[in-house]
Amino acid sequence: MKQDNTRTAQLTLEGNVYTLPIVEGTMGEKAIDISTLLKETGYITLDTGYKNTGSCTSTITYLDGKQGILRYRGYDIEDLANNCSFVEVCYLLLHGELPDEEQLRSFKSLIERFALIHEDMIHFFDHFPSHASPMSILSVMVNSLCNYYPEMSNDPMEDFDITSTRIISKIRTIAAFSYKKSMGHPLVYPRNDLSYCGNFLNMMFDKSVRPYVVLPEVVAALNKLLILHGDHEQNCSTSTVRLVGSAGVNLYASIAAGINALWGPLHGGANEAVLEMLETIYADDSNFQKYINKAKDRNDPFRLSGFGHRVYKTYDPRGKIIKKACDEIMNVLDVSDPLLDIAYSLEEIALKDEYFIERNLFPNVDFYSGIIYRALGIPTNMFTVMFALGRVPGWIAQWKEMREDPATRIGRPRQIFIGETAREFVPLHNR
Ligand code: ACO
Repeated sequence: MKQDNTRTAQLTLEGNVYTLPIVEGTMGEKAIDISTLLKETGYITLDTGYKNTGSCTSTITYLDGKQGILRYRGYDIEDLANNCSFVEVCYLLLHGELPDEEQLRSFKSLIERFALIHEDMIHFFDHFPSHASPMSILSVMVNSLCNYYPEMSNDPMEDFDITSTRIISKIRTIAAFSYKKSMGHPLVYPRNDLSYCGNFLNMMFDKSVRPYVVLPEVVAALNKLLILHGDHEQNCSTSTVRLVGSAGVNLYASIAAGINALWGPLHGGANEAVLEMLETIYADDSNFQKYINKAKDRNDPFRLSGFGHRVYKTYDPRGKIIKKACDEIMNVLDVSDPLLDIAYSLEEIALKDEYFIERNLFPNVDFYSGIIYRALGIPTNMFTVMFALGRVPGWIAQWKEMREDPATRIGRPRQIFIGETAREFVPLHNR
């Protein structure tokens, strides 16, 4: 970060002029540094929903919402999605550079080493009701890992490589086991002869009565989806991970908090909501216009799931890649899905509609991802879990960056109190 001493911002408050520094990022993003504002002026800033607030500086992900650019550590998302394995991208996010062959080999072997979860933890799955949400199971299990693998309690950074790889590896096993348990099927243990994605698919779908054939095209589609979800700078779940981590809590607990934030239908839960919405429209004679009208009606809480984004005011670059991948996988698997036709039609109508045009509402990453997951055989209630598997390296990289930044303090926003002023206490018998 550069401080531009030639340019400053002037703030006039009650007749006094205050000079505030301007800082600039490497891509020319500018910010007014208000960190001394309260001390100097007695004022805070008010920014509900943090639409306008930079909470940190970061070197991990760059996104430009107007031009639809997304880069991890300087690499364009399309290049990474088309040329890398998810494990390579995990390494890039965590370490800042793409691995060379030796680095990749040793990173992979760490991931393979940690693929199992402690047998005692497997009993946890037996005590959730069969209809339990896989997201709640995921966060509970990841949180519990700190009891079984507690290295990070002394010096978190010393064990960082081990703990981070452990989470990336075990979260995949936990996700697959939760699915098997929900189906009442025996668990399928990890196999290190398979790739990260192939191993996950095998744990999900292999059955002793019908062995699963890991198709390279299916692995490639999943690999792409996970890469596209790898990181997305200071979104709700990532900010949660940083905020929780800033209190000094361990990495497992911080990631579990991120999983909980991701669960929400306005965030990662949108991929599940999109599928449910498309199913509802299908069951309603594919009456798209009815749902477009509902989305536009201010008195109706219905929103077009998978549309709109806090930062992107153009087509989400991830959405574009996923839409193409969706067509490809449908062709490869030779399946057709009426929900895909509904999604195309909804998109076409919405993009021509004044309401969506005026508000810059475009399909986001979640609009087509569910259709691919469905084609791969992943059940709807696991969609957000898939998002979490992809996002975990980003959360970990952001947590590490936060911990290593000397400027980090415990996250503690302020407020403007608008409640009752001081009141006289009234004893219970007089109220
Ligand atoms: N359908 C209909 N109207 C919408 C939609 C939508 N999907 N999204 C935004 N709008 C409208 C709002 O009603 C508002 O209209 P108004 O100005 O007339 O009041 C305007 O567009 C701006 O919306 P906000 O809610 O202020 O925008 P915000 O940046 O706070 O919200 C969000 C972004 C949460 C993603 C929103 O677009 C939304 O709810 N989308 C649907 C859920 C979704 O797809 N979430 C996934 C996001 S991607 C991710 O998290 C991985």
